[in-house]
Amino acid sequence: SAHQWQAPSPTDSRGPCPGLNTLANHGFLPRNGSNITIPVPLVQRYLIDGFNFQPINLLRIGAKLGLLTTDAEDSFTLNNLALHGTLEHDASLSRNDYALGDNVHFNETVFTTLANSNPGVDYYNITSAAQVMEQRLAEDKIVNPTLINTAKEFAVRIVESGFYLSVMGNVTTGVAPKNFVQIFFREERLPLAEGWERSEVPIGEDNFDTLLSGITNVSTWAPSGEVVCPWIRLQP
Ligand code: HEM
Ligand code: MG
Repeated sequence: SAHQWQAPSPTDSRGPCPGLNTLANHGFLPRNGSNITIPVPLVQRYLIDGFNFQPINLLRIGAKLGLLTTDAEDSFTLNNLALHGTLEHDASLSRNDYALGDNVHFNETVFTTLANSNPGVDYYNITSAAQVMEQRLAEDKIVNPTLINTAKEFAVRIVESGFYLSVMGNVTTGVAPKNFVQIFFREERLPLAEGWERSEVPIGEDNFDTLLSGITNVSTWAPSGEVVCPWIRLQP
C-alpha cells in the first residue's frame, strides 16, 4: 500500500530525527526525504495520518527552525536537520554527539542507555525517560569536552522524550511498550505488524504539555559547560 514501510535507497535523504525518518520510510513524507516545506509536514496532515499528532505550535516552531538548517529559502531535507546547534544537539538518545563523529545515524551503543532502561518490566515511562536523559548527559560529560547543555538543549530533549513515549505509547499515561520504542528507533518503522496502533487520542497541546511537565518534574537537570546562554544557529 501507499504507506508500506520501505528502507530508504542510498540517494534518499535521512537525518537525525527518527520520527521524520519513519514518516518518510512509510511515505507520509516524501520518500526521498527532500523538498520538505512547511505545508508538507503541517498542512498535508502527515503528522496526523502517521501519528495522530496535531499540528501544535511546538511542531510549527520545530518545522520553521528546520528551514534555518539550509540555504534553500523554503524547504529542507531530512539530512539538513543535522546542522549542529539549530535543532540538533548533544546527548541524543540514539545518535552520537557531533564532536564525536556522527550525529545523524542511529548508533546502537548510544541507544543502549535507553534500550536497557526501566529493567524488569516491558515498558518505558516518564521516570525512566527522565533517568535516561540524565544518564546520556552524564556519559557525554565524560567523553565530549565541547558538550553543549543549556536550557535550550534541555527543552528540546524533553520534547523528544515526550515524542517517543506518546507516539509509540500513551500520551496520557506516558507509558510506551519497549518493543515498539525499540523498533521505532532501530528500524525507523511503525511497529504495525507487532500490534502498534496510531494513538486513539489526538496528541495535542494539552495532553502533550502535561506529559512534558511530568518528565520535567522528575528531572534534576542543571546546565553545564562553557556555553551558558541558550542560542540558536541561524544558518549553515
Ligand atoms: C530528534 C521524534 C518531529 C527534528 C528526535 C528524537 C525523537 C524524535 C524521538 C530524539 C532522537 C535522539 O535523541 O536520538 C519525533 C517525532 C516527531 C518529530 C515523533 C513528530 C511528532 C520533528 C520535527 C522536526 C524534528 C517537526 C523539525 C523539522 C528533529 C531533529 C532531531 C530530532 C533535528 C535531532 C535532535 C538530536 O537528537 O540531536 N525526533 N520528531 N522532529 N527531531 Fe524529531
Ligand atoms: Mg544529536
